[in-house]
Amino acid sequence: MADDIDIGLGTQARETVTAGLSKLLADSYAVYLKTHGYHWNVEGPNFASLHTLFMDQYTEMWTTIDLVAERIRALRSFAPQGYRAFANLSGVQDGNPEQSSEAMLAELVGDHEALVANARAARVAADAAGDDVTASLLDDRIEAHEKHAWMLRASLGRR
Ligand SMILES: [Fe+2]
Repeated sequence: MADDIDIGLGTQARETVTAGLSKLLADSYAVYLKTHGYHWNVEGPNFASLHTLFMDQYTEMWTTIDLVAERIRALRSFAPQGYRAFANLSGVQDGNPEQSSEAMLAELVGDHEALVANARAARVAADAAGDDVTASLLDDRIEAHEKHAWMLRASLGRR
């Protein structure tokens, strides 16, 4: 196809990889959005530390979402955009602003873990496709979300 790109990754391989990246983008946006909401709505004696922890985490996610979307574009697919598109791609549910801080933390731990499991599956596909650049990006995102999950678990007194 004349308007295709020729970077040594076949069309099928690129589409498989961008499907995994699109799911990661949707998961990341959903967890970002929930974390920002909990930054606003968290209450309790640990308000100040959780308000700050959530801000640190949503800021990290907000600044790195762009890298995922732009990797999708570099592989010639369109990046999904919009709440509906993200909701169709991600299993992460909207948060409840009225629940306890402990419930918020536990929910976010589960969300980060689900995101990491999906990203790991995408990593396997990227590796199989020979796309080391995407594999490296996924490694970075897995590392970041595993760290976010650890800090949330530690805030619950869990290992
Ligand atoms: Fe704020």
